[in-house]
Formats: sequence, structure tokens, C-alpha cells
Amino acid sequence: MAEQKEHVGMNKTGVQMAPLQTKAMLDDDNIITRGTPGDETAMAQLRQSYIAEEDGLGSIPVPATMKGMVSMGVHMLKGDSPQILLDKMAERLAMERTATRLYDALLTKLDALGEGTLSITREQVASIRGDEARHALLMRDAIATMGGDPTAQTPSADLVGVEAMGLVQVLSDPRTSLAQSLHAILTAELSDGVGWETLIALASESGQDEMVEGFSDALLQERKHQAMIQTWYEEAVGLDSTASQAAAASTGQASTANTGTAMPDAGSAPGKHS
Ligand SMILES: [Fe+2]
Ligand SMILES: [Fe+2]
Repeated sequence: MAEQKEHVGMNKTGVQMAPLQTKAMLDDDNIITRGTPGDETAMAQLRQSYIAEEDGLGSIPVPATMKGMVSMGVHMLKGDSPQILLDKMAERLAMERTATRLYDALLTKLDALGEGTLSITREQVASIRGDEARHALLMRDAIATMGGDPTAQTPSADLVGVEAMGLVQVLSDPRTSLAQSLHAILTAELSDGVGWETLIALASESGQDEMVEGFSDALLQERKHQAMIQTWYEEAVGLDSTASQAAAASTGQASTANTGTAMPDAGSAPGKHS
């Protein structure tokens, strides 16, 4: 049975709820909501003038320590762009910290609503939450190794903070169901996977082999998180395994829902950081 709580009720947001008023509105040539003829050129021009004046989302800080300055200087001399790697590392730190908070909120929701008929367990969610917190610490240490400041908000860290605001709102809204919360977390996990892939490629280009190893372990864990969340989400909207597998087959992707196979255990994922 689906855990989604949407029900048929007194929703009056659509025009079909007021057919007479809708007809009157459409027949009235002077109605103010119809607006005036024209296009969005003026609005686009105004936006373009602001865009032209802006200087981006801030900057990457100059290292404040001697070690940091030397490290950045050496990398620049080698033709690398350590500032881009540091910016993307700060982005990942911001996102992993937010992910930890998203899972905290999911645990609260789970405690309040219960698992219902889903295969989700509190232990599994707590285990993923632990992975996210460890990812944040891994990134904090990696930034420090590069001589960077893990507390600095770089442009990309700022960017993902704004992007994730909607996800945090969904999880912290008392009205949202488990299915809706899982949908938001799935968005975060999908973005996380791509974020780690980019970071691994950048670290690899910079010859940071040790980092690549640690980041690759984290990516493996993210993929397991995504599979678990997708499975629980599909269960929550009442998708049965046949429908899910048919949809996956039609898009050439592996199905995750109710496959009958053992759920990946995030807590025992290989390469887990302690
Ligand atoms: Fe993560
Ligand atoms: Fe994750």
C-alpha cells in the first residue's frame, strides 16, 4: 500500500471549481488579470542590465597560512587550477553538511510517522546520515590538506546552499509525507553523485591520488544511498516491482524498486571512513 497521503478534498485552486466565474472572466475584455499585450523583452532587458553589472557569487579566499600559500603557488606553477578544486571541495563540504541535516530531518519524520509498510528502517537511515557526516569531515580534512580554509564559503558552496534551500524546506515542513520527503532527498542524492564524480575528475587531474581514493569510496556510498532512497520512494508511491521494472526496461536503466534483492547496507559499505 502506498504511503503517499494525498487525498481528494476541497482543493479550489483550479478554474474548474468556479465555471461561472471563469466564463465571466474570459468574456470580460477589460479584466485586469488578462494583462496588456506585449512580450517579456522589457523584463529581459532589465535583468540583463543587472547581470552586466554583477561580479559573480563572491570569490575563493587567498590562503591565510604560509602552508596554504605555498601549496597554492606550487600548484599554479605546475599549471593546475587549485582554486577551482578548492571551490568544488567547499561545494561538496556544504552539500554533505546539508545532506546530514536532511537525514536528521528524515529521521525525525520517520519517528513521527513510522515506517508504515515500507522496507525503510531507522537504522538504515541513521547509517546513511552517518555516511554524510563522515563525507563532510573527509572534505574538511581534504581542504585543510590543500592549505585551504574549510570554514570559508566559496562561490560554489554559496550556490549549492541556495539550491538546497527548497530541499531543506520540504524536509522541515511538518505537513510533508514520507514519500514527499524521500522525493526531496532523492534530488539531493542524485546531485551528490554528480558532484562527487566532478570532484574526483578534478582531483585526478591535479594528481591528488590519495584524495581520489577517499572520494571514490564516498561516491560508492552515494550510489548505494541513491538506490536505497529510490527504492523507498517507489514503495511509498505504491509502485510495484513489475511496473518499476517495466519502466526501467523501457529507459534502459536498472530498476531499484522491490527487486527482492537485499538492500545495500550503507553502514557496511566498503571504504567507509571512520
Ligand atoms: Fe554524501
Ligand atoms: Fe548520500
